[in-house]
Amino acid sequence: MLTKFEKVTTRDGLEDGKALVVRFGREEVCLVRWDGKFFAFANHCPHMDSPMQWGYIEQGFIECPWHGFRYDLATGARLRIPGAGGLDLYPIRIVGDDVYVGPRPPSPAPAPRTEYYG
Ligand code: FES
Repeated sequence: MLTKFEKVTTRDGLEDGKALVVRFGREEVCLVRWDGKFFAFANHCPHMDSPMQWGYIEQGFIECPWHGFRYDLATGARLRIPGAGGLDLYPIRIVGDDVYVGPRPPSPAPAPRTEYYG
């Protein structure tokens, strides 16, 4: 499990338009480089868990290899269906030539219950 920022490649270690899978225990992260920028997200499609590293990458989106749903690389949002499940993004940190991926922020805390007394 990813608990801190870990170096995954270098700036030149991944070609533009390509994906790389890095594993942290049972956690698989798909790292993509597009237009010189890096993006990282869980390597499973939110629809039916297809491996996203085989997705088609173009114009800032990745298309799932199984059913063709498209996701915005920068936001993880599913295109054309606002509000539908999107990619689980990971933070990226670039230090010099090194590219790091960090743990995902915790899910938002559940809304506090309202308790009534009296
Ligand atoms: S598994 Fe990705 S669109 Fe269906």
